[in-house]
Amino acid sequence: MNLFRNQYNQYNMFRTIVIIHTLMILFLLSSSLCAQQAPQTLLTTISDLTEEIEAEVISWRRDFHQHPELSNREYRTAGIVAEHLRSLGMEVQTGVAKTGVVGLLRGPEDGPVIALRADMDALPITEETGLPFASTVTTTFQGEVVGVMHACGHDLHTSSLMGVATVLAGIRDQLPGSVKFIFQPAEEGAFDYDVWGAKLMVQEGVLENPRPDAIFGMHVWPFTTGTIAYNGGAIMASVDNFNITIKGSGGHAAAPWETNDPIIVASKVVSGLQTLVSRNAELTKGAAVVSVGSIRGGNRHNIIPDEVELLGTIRTHNEETRKMIHERLKTFVHNTAEAFGTQAEIAIDRLYPAVINNSDLVNSMLPVIRESVGHDNVQEMYPLMIAEDFSYYANEIPAMFYMLGTLPHDNAGSVEPIHSPRFDVDEAAISTAVRTMSYLAVEALYLFKDQ
Ligand code: NI
Repeated sequence: MNLFRNQYNQYNMFRTIVIIHTLMILFLLSSSLCAQQAPQTLLTTISDLTEEIEAEVISWRRDFHQHPELSNREYRTAGIVAEHLRSLGMEVQTGVAKTGVVGLLRGPEDGPVIALRADMDALPITEETGLPFASTVTTTFQGEVVGVMHACGHDLHTSSLMGVATVLAGIRDQLPGSVKFIFQPAEEGAFDYDVWGAKLMVQEGVLENPRPDAIFGMHVWPFTTGTIAYNGGAIMASVDNFNITIKGSGGHAAAPWETNDPIIVASKVVSGLQTLVSRNAELTKGAAVVSVGSIRGGNRHNIIPDEVELLGTIRTHNEETRKMIHERLKTFVHNTAEAFGTQAEIAIDRLYPAVINNSDLVNSMLPVIRESVGHDNVQEMYPLMIAEDFSYYANEIPAMFYMLGTLPHDNAGSVEPIHSPRFDVDEAAISTAVRTMSYLAVEALYLFKDQ
């Protein structure tokens, strides 16, 4: 009996130890897996501060809209941004990647660093919105006098990030780390330079000293105001341009047997290039597009020209497909040209990589985005085939790029796309922009605090 009882007690003790150990392991696991979130009181303060500064941010946006500047010429815009960041007590660097501005807002203690990025440049477009603060600015671009317009919403991006700077500076004592504000020039491209925009900012060390743990960026998009759209993987495409010259030998079109006709070759190339995507790209891994946008060759009905030039663009959602298309394009075009007794010269200009979001970061941020705009206003979106040089940051550190709806609720159905001379944004989206990005910065600081 005693023996039995002792055995029973030993068994009970063993079982208790196992249970205690299991509970301890579960507790340790849950505390390390459940990353910290920003306290609700901090989010409420951010929301209140956003409301307080909304009118000021709108006035900045109108000022930028009325005074747009082309890529790498954002002198006035950069000056206003730098002065604003200094007035908030930040460490400010100017002249980064030509005209970029970088501000560092330090919290009371060392901790994670979160970067926020806005682009500042406008486009060579003559504005036709009829807005009271429409741009009447003209400048010289590639030897021609052109209008200049914020037709891509970068005025909203820049003014909103200035607003985020005000909001976060207002709670700097409660920030568990630092926030790096990146105001980038030349997102639209400065093709008279070899390197520009985000790529040049990265080369000049914008992601060092201190190195951010993550970066956020956004773009206006014709979804209803108050909406945020995201994707946990590729959200925008890589872009590369190609120039192909088919060199044959021309002659009278009535005697084609005496020529090596580059027009025939060009037509084979245009149709054949379509098979790079339809027959070679693994489309389940991401979309791809090859488009020819220009064919030039010949000038009369009865003359076969010496050469034909083709211009086109390649878009992909991953590096593997991008590389494959480059290689197959060269092989296909060279072999086709050779088959018809002509020669091909091919130049592929590698521009921006695809913007690929970090899925873990996106998933961690979805609750706070829903908190900002409401559960039903957060949408997952299909990846786009347009490009953004935000990809150069996303290639270096965990990143999230998302789209901000700027289409008025009473929109009658006519949507002016970005880069249209009639493009406009709904200013009611500005408070959504400021609040959401401020939430993201704070939430990400808490997320990376214990990692
Ligand atoms: Ni843009």
